[in-house]
Amino acid sequence: MLKAVLVVTLPFVAEISTFSNTRSNLNTSTIECGSDVYFLRAASSVNILQKNTFRSMENLYRLDITDCYMREVRPGFIRNPKSLIVINFSRNRLSTIRAGVFVKSLTSLLLNNNDLESIEENAFSNIFIEYLELSTNNISTIENWFRNVTILRLHLNNNQITSLRKDTFREIRGLEDIYLDNNRIQYIEVNTFPNMKELHLARNYLYNIDFLGRTVLETLDIGFNRISCFRSFVILTKIKRLLIYPNPWNCNCLLGFWKLAWRYGIGYGDSQLFQQKSDTNLICLVAEHIDEQDKKLHEENFMRILYN
Ligand SMILES: *[C@@H]1O[C@H](CO)[C@@H](O)[C@H](O)[C@H]1NC(C)=O
Ligand SMILES: *[C@@H]1O[C@H](CO)[C@@H](O)[C@H](O)[C@H]1NC(C)=O
Ligand SMILES: *[C@@H]1O[C@H](CO)[C@@H](O)[C@H](O)[C@H]1NC(C)=O
Ligand SMILES: *[C@@H]1O[C@H](CO)[C@@H](O)[C@H](O)[C@H]1NC(C)=O
Repeated sequence: MLKAVLVVTLPFVAEISTFSNTRSNLNTSTIECGSDVYFLRAASSVNILQKNTFRSMENLYRLDITDCYMREVRPGFIRNPKSLIVINFSRNRLSTIRAGVFVKSLTSLLLNNNDLESIEENAFSNIFIEYLELSTNNISTIENWFRNVTILRLHLNNNQITSLRKDTFREIRGLEDIYLDNNRIQYIEVNTFPNMKELHLARNYLYNIDFLGRTVLETLDIGFNRISCFRSFVILTKIKRLLIYPNPWNCNCLLGFWKLAWRYGIGYGDSQLFQQKSDTNLICLVAEHIDEQDKKLHEENFMRILYN
């Protein structure tokens, strides 16, 4: 059966009567509705989402409060969000996520481009989140945020993360893709990651990939790190596609890898973050026949590519 969706833009005053008990400066401009509200977007600044800001909205499936200078979301900000599946709180000023704020399973929870530094213990628990977006924040450590949660795609890129422990992701079920590019990761404990499809670790400070241990992956991006050689070649045979450039490769080691890749059908190439392809034909750094001066030149050239 076809169901007509009427799109109306209501003035602020009318919205107040639509949403019982909204506070002060909450403003909304786009409402798609039949008799109820399905999609709600805030159009001006929203400082704090108080308890019970939204209620009696059984059909609301999407809530967008973005670019609104929002600093805080309190537990219970929405009451009985039966149909809610997308929350977009990106580009605000959130500095913390309290436990008990997100209690409903969602297809997308977007918290990127905020000022997140701390996330309370069990902030993501007893729910299913298909896509959790936490990129471009100020997160330096991942504490016990997760408990009894299913997350398929997790974005933590563009943060300040320095290390990952074996138990960091252990409580998450179903993980397929993790994005950790552009952090400050130097150390990852062995077997931190479950078997997954994609692991993105470009632009960090990694010297090796020993942390994989028994992990099986489809794609691993380790471009823009400090890797000069694979210490264990056995690990590589569990990966289908390796994005290894640029890194300060030792040429002999790389030759060994190429042979192995050929033998086991491992695909390899440039990091997904590598955009200046024309700028370089420098694949490896240290070869036996290179004299000291050439080596220095190579290194400088390479560091320019790596850290520009
Ligand atoms: C709410 O948004 C409308 C349209 O964008 C604007 O005219 C109005 O001034 C806003 N109200 C408040 C209280 O910010
Ligand atoms: C979330 O909101 C931001 C800012 O309005 C927008 O750029 C982004 O596309 C939205 N994300 C999704 C998945 O809707
Ligand atoms: C785990 O989370 C699911 C929702 O995803 C919930 O139904 C279940 O009761 C939770 N289990 C425990 C032990 O809390
Ligand atoms: C990020 O956190 C550091 C301390 O860990 C702090 O010095 C810095 O000001 C924060 N940056 C932003 C943008 O909040």
